[in-house]
This record gives sequence, structure tokens and C-alpha cells, in this order.
Amino acid sequence: MARKGKVTVVGAGFYGSTTAQRLAEYDIFDEVVLTDIIEGKPEGLALDMNQSRPIEGFETKITGATTGMSGEGYEAIAGSDIVVITAGLPRKPGMSRMDLIEVNAKIVRQVAENVAKHAPEAVVIVVSNPLDEMTALTQLATQFPKNRVIGQAGMLDTARFTNFVAGKLGVDVASVKTLTLGSHGDTMVPVPSHCTVNGRPLTELLSAADIDELVTRTRNGGAEVVALLKTGSAYYAPSAAAARMAKAVAEDSGEIMPVCAWVDGEYGISGVYLGVMAELGANGVRKVVEVPLTDSELAGLKEAAEAVRAKQADVQSL
Ligand SMILES: NC(=O)c1ccc[n+]([C@@H]2O[C@H](COP(=O)([O-])OP(=O)(O)OC[C@H]3O[C@@H](n4cnc5c(N)ncnc54)[C@H](O)[C@@H]3O)[C@@H](O)[C@H]2O)c1
Repeated sequence: MARKGKVTVVGAGFYGSTTAQRLAEYDIFDEVVLTDIIEGKPEGLALDMNQSRPIEGFETKITGATTGMSGEGYEAIAGSDIVVITAGLPRKPGMSRMDLIEVNAKIVRQVAENVAKHAPEAVVIVVSNPLDEMTALTQLATQFPKNRVIGQAGMLDTARFTNFVAGKLGVDVASVKTLTLGSHGDTMVPVPSHCTVNGRPLTELLSAADIDELVTRTRNGGAEVVALLKTGSAYYAPSAAAARMAKAVAEDSGEIMPVCAWVDGEYGISGVYLGVMAELGANGVRKVVEVPLTDSELAGLKEAAEAVRAKQADVQSL
């Protein structure tokens, strides 16, 4: 089997370590690099993951590297084709994602500057919260072309919606297709008009009240997990989402996925990072794919764009 390329995951916490493990288990990369500022943590996790290779049957090597606040150790990421940024604090119960903006902006800016220096050709997938703002900040700090900086939110939100619909109807998740657009937060825009179960419109199978209930649960999907865990936030579904995006980029697959991408005229919206459907390839976003929306869905998307636009402007000074 041909393996190629190098992917780095910055931040070896719950999200980062599970993402690194998933990427390694795909067995399509030469190397997965995992970094963190906690000395020894990425090296220890990498050693442990490497030892799972004979059992799980994959050859991709995992390298751990401790990095310093002045950029020490970043040589390890040199030549990365893809960098996933997971560094940053997660929410605690009762916190909104936006409560993390100041502390995570400092972390993400420092990481992004080092990524620009050591992996200048990489496609960057951002997951740190608040997601839309951290994606915009990463683009500013790296000065990478906007297509090469993408955020992960829509894959996760859509997966949560799909899971809830499948649970409600008692069907396989594979038979359900859902879609969420907009921002990763209060202005997430679920798109029931694109939701189907075995090809049948969701609106024929569930009442408007039932759909609303599932939409609300999806919108609060992250908070529901945070409240149960009490320390830390979700990482199994989030890491699956980020890893799939990295795989689509690595394989130049042209898959169309809901991601946080730079919008430049689509839906009549410009100049903002927003959750939309996009075709992914080796250079990140090949193009934003517009899907037909109902009037209220389009209005919701425009509202989300204005809400995140204001916050994205703020990150310049953080
Ligand atoms: N986009 C999404 O859908 C989504 C979903 C879940 C979590 N998240 C976000 O992902 C981030 C990580 O979550 P987690 O559960 O892994 O948290 P975590 O606390 O388990 O891990 C974060 C890691 O980042 C490291 N870190 C901090 N500063 C760093 C720096 N300057 N350089 C390198 N590493 C640094 C920490 O040492 C820690 O190991 C959080 O901001 C969380 O809110 C996003």
C-alpha cells in the first residue's frame, strides 16, 4: 500500500490525540506528527500509538514533539502537507464557546505563526474554539491563501443531527442524510430541506415540532456532552470529523463536505469564514458549493454570517 505525506496535529489533548490516532490508523500517511507544550506528553502518546501498530495493522509512524512558547521544537512539523490545530482550552460546564476567545486566540496565534514558518505549504484545519473566529485568526496569522485554511464544525454538527434523527426514527445512521450550515454556535443553521431518510424528505417522516426538538439538541450537542463529562468536551465525533477532512485533502478526493470556509459572494455573502458545503482537494477548498435553500434557511445563514463577521473582525486585535 502506498503511503505518502506528513500530517501534523498541534495539541495532544483529547481532541488532538484521538485525531492523530485516527489519521495514523487510516494508514495512508508516511508520518503523523503530534505536538504539545506539555513536555513529554506528545512523545509518550506517540510511543503508545506506535506500539498499537502491530495489533491494529498499520504502518504509518507517529512522532511526538514538545514545542516551546518561542517556537522551539517546531522543526518537527517541517514539510507537513496538512496541519490540524487543536491547541487551546475546551469548555467547562456552563461556558459558551465564545468564553474561550481571548485565551485561545493567544494560543492559536502563536501556533499559527509557527505553522507559517515551518510548514509554509500546508493546508491548515482549525478546530480550536470558538471555531469560526479561530479559523479567521489562523488565516490572518499565517497569511496563507484563504482556501488553505479551513475550520471543522459542520461535519460534526451534521453528524450529531444525523445521529439524533436515526435515534428518533430507529433507523441506521447510514440511511440518514442531514445538513447544518452557518456558524459553530448559537447561529448554527440546520437545513431540514436537505435532510432525508432513505431518500425520503425528513419533513414527511417527522412533525415540525419533532424536527425542532432535534435541531435544538443538535445546536446544544456540544454543551450536552460537556455537562455530562464535567471536565473537558467531546472528542470522539469531533476527531472523526477533522480526520475525515484531512483525509479528503490528503487524497485530493474532491469530496463535498460541510466545513468552515471563506465565503466570497456565495449566497450573496462575502468576506467571512462561515459554515458552508465545500469541495475539498489537495489545496484545501477547491470551491464553495451552493445548495438551494428555503427563504428562512437563507435568512438564517445570512444572520449567522453577520454574527460571526463582527466577532471575526475582533480577533485581529487579540
Ligand atoms: N470545532 C469543534 O467542533 C470542536 C469540538 C470539540 C472541541 N473543540 C475545541 O478543541 C480544542 C481542544 O479540545 P481538547 O478536548 O483536545 O482539549 P484538551 O485540554 O484535552 O487539549 C488541549 C491541548 O492543547 C495544548 N496546548 C495549549 N497551548 C498550546 C500551544 N501553545 N501549543 C501547543 N499545544 C498547546 C494543551 O497542553 C492541551 O494538551 C478546544 O478549544 C475545544 O473547545 C472544537
